[in-house]
Amino acid sequence: MIRFDGVTKRYADGTVAVDALSLDIPTGQITVLVGPSGCGKTTSLRMINRMVEPTGGTISIDGEDILSKEPAQLRRGIGYVIQQAGLFPHRTIIDNIATVPYLLGWDKKKARARAMELLERVGLDLRMAKRYPFQLSGGQQQRVGVARALAADPPIMLMDEPFSAVDPIVRKSLQDEFLRLQAELKKTIVFVTHDIDEAVKLGHEIAVMAVGGKLAQLATPEELLAAPEDGFVAEFLGGTRGLRRLRFARELDAEPAASTSEEP
Ligand SMILES: Nc1ncnc2c1ncn2[C@@H]1O[C@H](COP(=O)(O)OP(=O)(O)O)[C@@H](O)[C@H]1O
Ligand SMILES: [Mg+2]
Repeated sequence: MIRFDGVTKRYADGTVAVDALSLDIPTGQITVLVGPSGCGKTTSLRMINRMVEPTGGTISIDGEDILSKEPAQLRRGIGYVIQQAGLFPHRTIIDNIATVPYLLGWDKKKARARAMELLERVGLDLRMAKRYPFQLSGGQQQRVGVARALAADPPIMLMDEPFSAVDPIVRKSLQDEFLRLQAELKKTIVFVTHDIDEAVKLGHEIAVMAVGGKLAQLATPEELLAAPEDGFVAEFLGGTRGLRRLRFARELDAEPAASTSEEP
């Protein structure tokens, strides 16, 4: 598991982005960090792979302080997916996916075979392998971003608003496929979003953060919706449809024969 123990990040200009964050992120599950813009989600995520160094506290992975590892070595075990995929525009899709295997010195044939396998896994047509990123839709690029992060089969995946830049219908299909993939792969995933509905749908556990980088509540989706800890969390949950969805899903579980024609 990934453990944050009193982790603080104060940037050079004095901004406290993350304030004494303590959080356990269990192995093999999806933990979602959710909260309004500027509450320190990206900073928290980037401290895990040492793209940002904490100014206080410790982060450990399976009991080992991440400062005891070289950043390059640490990152080999951590896939990273960002909004708008961040693909290399001048590289083909297959070479984008094979980026990390190439860096690790795999031979080209093996790296490309792995990339083709992943292209298929994320639901893309193999004929896209030779295209360039600009020849793909936003949703397809996002899938390539996920495939690239998975290429070296890292046990940990950090995902920073990976589905935020696509339209709602594409987003839903990306989320559904992501859940299907994760059911097979069982990675340890830290998923950042500002969308509470997305958090409720994807998270085993949800960490709600408030501006100033404080943890407002850590709970399962059910617990969170049933008992928001304070006014801030309740307001953030606001008009979420997540509650309705969750109830609906439960009703379906309880009565498999019930009509599914209408969402309440
Ligand atoms: N490099 C930086 N220097 C100074 N302040 C920063 C830097 N990066 C982020 N911040 C500030 O830290 C806070 C948290 O930012 P961030 O982690 O990006 O939030 P989120 O991802 O939740 O929107 C914000 O107030 C932001 O302006
Ligand atoms: Mg962010």
